[in-house]
Amino acid sequence: MLIVEEIMKNIVAILCVLLHVSSNSALSEKPNVLFIVIDDLRASLGCYGGPIISPNIDQLASKSALFTNTMVQQAVCGPSRTSFLTGRRPDTTRLYDFGSYWRTHAGNYTTLPQHFKENGYFTASVGKVFHPGIASGGNDDYPYSWSVPAYHPPTQQYQANKLCPNLDGTLHNNVICPVKVSDMPQKSLPDIQSLEVSSSILKNLSVALHPTHKQGKPTETGQSSPDMQPPFFLAVGFHKPHIPWKYPEEFKSLYPIESVSIATNPYRPPTQPDVAYEDYYNMRTYREDVAAMNTSFPFGTIPLQFHAPMRQSYYAAASYMDSMVGKLLQTLNETGFSNNTIVVLFGDHGWQLGEHAEWCKYSNYELATRVPLIVHIPGVTDKPRSSPIKNELQNSLKMNQSQGNVKSSADSGMVVTELVELVDLFPTLSELAGITVPPVCPPEPFNVTLCSEGYSFAPLLEPVQGSNTILQKDGMEKLTSKRYSRWKNATFSQYPRPGVTPNYETDLPSLVDITIMGYSMRTKDHHYTEWIGFNPKTFQGNWTDVKATELYMNGLDYDQNQNVAADPQFKDIVKQLSYQLQMGWRESLPVPA
Ligand SMILES: *[C@@H]1O[C@H](CO)[C@@H](O)[C@H](O)[C@H]1NC(C)=O
Ligand SMILES: *[C@@H]1O[C@H](CO)[C@@H](O)[C@H](O)[C@H]1NC(C)=O
Ligand SMILES: *[C@@H]1O[C@H](CO)[C@@H](O)[C@H](O)[C@H]1NC(C)=O
Ligand SMILES: *[C@@H]1O[C@H](CO)[C@@H](O)[C@H](O)[C@H]1NC(C)=O
Ligand SMILES: *[C@@H]1O[C@H](CO)[C@@H](O)[C@H](O)[C@H]1NC(C)=O
Ligand SMILES: *[C@@H]1O[C@H](CO)[C@@H](O)[C@H](O)[C@H]1NC(C)=O
Ligand SMILES: *[C@@H]1O[C@H](CO)[C@@H](O)[C@H](O)[C@H]1NC(C)=O
Ligand SMILES: *[C@@H]1O[C@H](CO)[C@@H](O)[C@H](O)[C@H]1NC(C)=O
Ligand SMILES: *[C@@H]1O[C@H](CO)[C@@H](O)[C@H](O)[C@H]1NC(C)=O
Repeated sequence: MLIVEEIMKNIVAILCVLLHVSSNSALSEKPNVLFIVIDDLRASLGCYGGPIISPNIDQLASKSALFTNTMVQQAVCGPSRTSFLTGRRPDTTRLYDFGSYWRTHAGNYTTLPQHFKENGYFTASVGKVFHPGIASGGNDDYPYSWSVPAYHPPTQQYQANKLCPNLDGTLHNNVICPVKVSDMPQKSLPDIQSLEVSSSILKNLSVALHPTHKQGKPTETGQSSPDMQPPFFLAVGFHKPHIPWKYPEEFKSLYPIESVSIATNPYRPPTQPDVAYEDYYNMRTYREDVAAMNTSFPFGTIPLQFHAPMRQSYYAAASYMDSMVGKLLQTLNETGFSNNTIVVLFGDHGWQLGEHAEWCKYSNYELATRVPLIVHIPGVTDKPRSSPIKNELQNSLKMNQSQGNVKSSADSGMVVTELVELVDLFPTLSELAGITVPPVCPPEPFNVTLCSEGYSFAPLLEPVQGSNTILQKDGMEKLTSKRYSRWKNATFSQYPRPGVTPNYETDLPSLVDITIMGYSMRTKDHHYTEWIGFNPKTFQGNWTDVKATELYMNGLDYDQNQNVAADPQFKDIVKQLSYQLQMGWRESLPVPA
């Protein structure tokens, strides 16, 4: 707890500076931001119509904007986090593995939290926000991004220890790892510790705000007036449901094993190019329970009898995380911050749970690239719906709860089906907070410190109810912004490979070994990928060196089992999509009206 005390001492010192500096500005009008990143969370939460029991996040979603088509830029932690925290894509951060720090390797880019910090915010990082280690300079980009050193839960050091009981009581380094928390080192788990520290930061910020008054109560007079409140940007990164699925054992009983269904497509699709397949080498090699399953390398799936137990533990770990989120939001409420705090919650990328015979992330499939994204803006996304919309929505939700349909509360909240990307978070949160929105980066962005390769989706949140909300046939609301003739019409993801044939590092090649890049694009109707030659010294792809192509029809083939890129009837579509993919994200940005 020494580290924590040091952090808190710093918080108090910095608050004093901020209070002094900002005493004449209108900082109280700037909202706080609670930025919640979840590791390896696919869009299978209850509020997304999925099997994960997530009452706390569902509750947040019911008064938030819930985005159904959010894509990440690369489906692995380090590159994805560096991308959304700098607001730039992997070809600009030049981070496709975990081995370099953008400031010295690509350009001295201003980050999202740094931008808030430079605009008078108190910024703090708890848990896994930046990918720790080299990828964030060895110190989570402190002090550039954070007002105080980043906090990492000390129990994270036990993540590969033999702490998971097998049936015979022996302890192992397993993926499936329900535990008694009281038996754990320090009698705790990483996310419990992150919750404690983030809650404590909120409480201490609240006390610092109102030094002579009870916490959470607004002051009436004097020096500690809320006008002098320095706003905060608190980033909290929960580790679960990242493997190992080490969680308090009571969460397992939420999912009786006989009620856990497995993927309908736990096989390798015949039309899948080898290069598209990821061999989940890390998990199958370094975890004892998975290693003992004798899965054939590279294409064998985990034997089917283990699929339900693995899903059960992924879901249970996610429900445990959901309970941590619930407690954090409760503290936000109790500290009096919830009506002036934007809450954003999302996954850093998705996860495959046996689909296509695959496990983990490391691919361009939609299960890896699509994530949940929930944005709560007090007084905006939680306004009650107008009655006609409410009734119509209620009826249509009753009518159709099919796969992929979100469960939306009919009373408040909104569902946004437009395409957005995690790289959009930087400009979006800047716009929502009323600080300078980083401009769109020029084509040579390496010397430009403040710019973004995303696009603010704040306009999608403007129309809240009534005239701007159109109810679609499928029960979704279509939010139209009058400022745009069309919204972003494609999102862009990518994944590197060391070669066309899976080998031990297919899942996570080091920069020097990357010879192929899979550039992938998601449009309303299609998911299209080209795997092309890539030079890791020049960071250039070679569009005339195409190793494989994939085309999936959204809607018709939700599970992406049928790659139809070679089907002559789609020749023209492939040509169009290939052109748009090569032109890149700039040509797909929203078009102002
Ligand atoms: C990067 O920018 C920061 C300010 O954002 C500056 O303090 C630092 O010296 C710069 N580092 C390099 C390597 O240019
Ligand atoms: C919050 O502030 C109090 C008083 O300064 C301090 O004792 C406590 O350690 C802080 N919270 C945490 C988790 O450090
Ligand atoms: C894996 O192989 C070992 C040694 O051949 C055997 O004891 C074990 O039962 C096998 N496990 C499975 C799940 O087939
Ligand atoms: C937050 O607190 C208020 C009372 O201050 C209460 O009415 C509201 O239900 C709480 N919201 C949540 C999500 O706990
Ligand atoms: C938040 O709630 C407090 C106490 O109820 C109130 O004084 C304050 O004006 C509210 N702030 C906003 C932005 O609604
Ligand atoms: C970026 O800066 C470096 C050194 O400061 C310079 O050599 C290079 O030409 C600049 N590149 C561009 C595109 O401006
Ligand atoms: C419900 O969803 C299914 C599958 O997506 C679709 O076939 C059906 O038309 C939908 N029904 C309604 C009433 O929208
Ligand atoms: C997206 O819009 C551009 C024009 O701005 C157009 O060329 C392209 O075909 C569109 N793509 C899709 C998938 O609608
Ligand atoms: C790109 O690939 C083509 C086809 O393999 C090859 O002929 C060409 O030399 C490559 N270009 C570069 C710059 O490597």
